[in-house]
Amino acid sequence: MKGFAERVNVIEEYYFSQKLKEVKKLQMEGKPIINMGIGSPDLPPHPSVVEALCDTARDSNSHGYQNYQGIPELRKSFSDFYLKYYHVHLSHLDEILPLIGSKEGILHVSMTFMDEGDHVLIPDPGYPTYSSVSKMLGLKPIYYRLRKENNWYPDFEELENFDLSKVKLMWVNYPHMPTGAKADLDLFERLVNFAKKHDILLVNDNPYSFILEDTPKSIFQVEGAKEIAIELNSLSKTANMAGWRVGCVTGNSENIKAITKVKSNVDSGMFLGIQNAAIAALNLDRDWYNSLNQVYGLRRELLWKFAEKLNLEFSIDTVGMFIWAKLPNGINCRDYVDKLLYEKNIFVTPGDIFGKQGEGWVRLSLCVKNEEIEAAIKRLEFL
Ligand SMILES: Cc1ncc(COP(=O)(O)O)c(C=O)c1O
Repeated sequence: MKGFAERVNVIEEYYFSQKLKEVKKLQMEGKPIINMGIGSPDLPPHPSVVEALCDTARDSNSHGYQNYQGIPELRKSFSDFYLKYYHVHLSHLDEILPLIGSKEGILHVSMTFMDEGDHVLIPDPGYPTYSSVSKMLGLKPIYYRLRKENNWYPDFEELENFDLSKVKLMWVNYPHMPTGAKADLDLFERLVNFAKKHDILLVNDNPYSFILEDTPKSIFQVEGAKEIAIELNSLSKTANMAGWRVGCVTGNSENIKAITKVKSNVDSGMFLGIQNAAIAALNLDRDWYNSLNQVYGLRRELLWKFAEKLNLEFSIDTVGMFIWAKLPNGINCRDYVDKLLYEKNIFVTPGDIFGKQGEGWVRLSLCVKNEEIEAAIKRLEFL
């Protein structure tokens, strides 16, 4: 055999794919690990969602290949959801494409709009997949700094000083992971203006809009945004369906058509049971989100106590599924994470996996039950 493709050398296995094996090994050895690392909701989906899946699975006619654009009822439900919660009009005919989780959308969008050598703006800190997908496709990542002093928003002055001539696409993600910075309509407006000025496709990755947020926001709330922006959305966190793999990409019909061209050559649609379950999830009313946020709100307060015990600094004015906490100066985040893992059996995520700006920070997940957070706080008493 003549060896691996070059792209295998330019990326590393996803951090969690590696680290969770190590965590699992410790668990197998009997270590009582409390996992505050990963943002995978531990709560179940609404019962109507599970019923829709089971009902469909029992129907002998539901097991064939499905429509490449998702069934019209699913697209209609996404469209109704966007109207109800974001007050945004999207045509279910040609402005919505369901995805097998929004993570795959990052690849499809990149493949649709970018050629080898094109430049792409990526937030630092930010979701690592923007960077790894870009590297796999031979794009040049241009990292833009997000800093606490700027509320973790892009520094537009700094951006204007970049050489933007080859930049075709900019990833943004508000509410922001890992920092929890809120989405804000003024910010979205500035981003849309910036993208229009420089003729850059703006992609807002929006999986956290409901978590600890009463007024979910979409980039399309900015007038004219559809001309220059697309948005990814996901049921992973809003409907506790991370393992089910359902999301969507939304945008103008021309953009969605082009993404469909790519995606339809990669997979062959989504199981009908999952589509029907997603319809049930998208039709849940406000009470669903309120009850989730009540749970997350209590957990967050406990995690603040946990972070205080560790002398970490954090902001309480955040949204989303994580607490982004600063370590005392000079401490390396990987060393810190391993110390906590091996001495206290508590796993948290090192900030540097999200980029250079994340060095010196750790991320704590709200996907941990109150009892476990309380147990973690107790363990620290013997620190
Ligand atoms: C910022 C961000 N984008 C996208 C995703 C992927 O979500 P999905 O489960 O829809 O693929 C995640 C998941 O953790 C995320 O944090």
